[in-house]
Amino acid sequence: MSEIKCIGIVTSGNDAPGMNSAIRSVTRSAIYNGLKVKAVYHGYKGMIEGDIVEFQTQSVSNIIQYGGTILKSSPSKDFKSEEGRKMAYENLVKEGIDALVVIGGDGTIHGARIFAQEFDFPCIAIPATIDNNLCGTDTTIGYDTALNTIMETVDKIRDTATSHERLFFVEVMGDGAGFLALNGGLAAGAEEAIVPTIEVEEEQLDHFIQKGFRKTKGSSIVLVAANEKTGGAMHYAEWVKNKYPSLDVRICIIGHAQRGGHPTAHDRIIASRMGSASIQALLKGLRNVMVGIENDEIVYVPFSRAIKEDRAIDRSMLDILHNVSI
Ligand code: F6P
Repeated sequence: MSEIKCIGIVTSGNDAPGMNSAIRSVTRSAIYNGLKVKAVYHGYKGMIEGDIVEFQTQSVSNIIQYGGTILKSSPSKDFKSEEGRKMAYENLVKEGIDALVVIGGDGTIHGARIFAQEFDFPCIAIPATIDNNLCGTDTTIGYDTALNTIMETVDKIRDTATSHERLFFVEVMGDGAGFLALNGGLAAGAEEAIVPTIEVEEEQLDHFIQKGFRKTKGSSIVLVAANEKTGGAMHYAEWVKNKYPSLDVRICIIGHAQRGGHPTAHDRIIASRMGSASIQALLKGLRNVMVGIENDEIVYVPFSRAIKEDRAIDRSMLDILHNVSI
């Protein structure tokens, strides 16, 4: 196995708050350990186009507190083709980069997995997505910040919902996973959460409205995970409006505000730990693994496991949400 002297760092796919904290940690940990760092701008697209700049310690000064990614990110259709990936590989070789740290979600790790196999190129992934939908880690960078944004937004909605005795359907992101809806609901004291991996039929909404709504409270909030198949908050709100015309129903789609903002302390800390662990992994000779945190310990998870399947939702959490919102 050849010695690694220079690493490349790239953020790909959708951004997540805390990515900058991870970029800072990877850069500084690499330099501390005597490695050169080259930053790839604009995700995998930048790798294909050779958008690469050498980083020094000061290149990542004053970024730990900002959301987004200073390296920018963009989807790359070309990286899905063998030809595109070959161009990316050639650029890395030309720059003298002999290992890659990729920061992103499932699409990013999927791309890294194919690239690493195709060119026998050492890659380490750091999980960063607000959706928290990767296996092999208790949490991903950006998830906690997004949860806090949801909680603060729902707190505000609750004020006006209570004044007007309204039923609000609040749609949150999740990319087919329900972690933001469920845990955002728990944090904000929502009365119901509709998550894709747990069947919530209209009858359950019926049950909720007849048994719970306005029996003891002046307002109700239902958190809905965005879901192209069902139509999300809009669909459920319309259904309730048709069936219960006397109810005063409103919809709020929080949208991309969930992807922005200063990362929470939790996200900055895990980003710093994972960034440092990514360099330790390379120095130890690990290849093609995602850095995870399980039970507060750093773990290294093969790419295949990280993106293997939809991470399961703990149904008992929904029971708790129901029990504590009576
Ligand atoms: O993966 C993060 C995420 O914010 C998802 O929750 C959401 O479905 C998607 O990205 C939105 O992507 P875009 O920014 O392309 O609208």
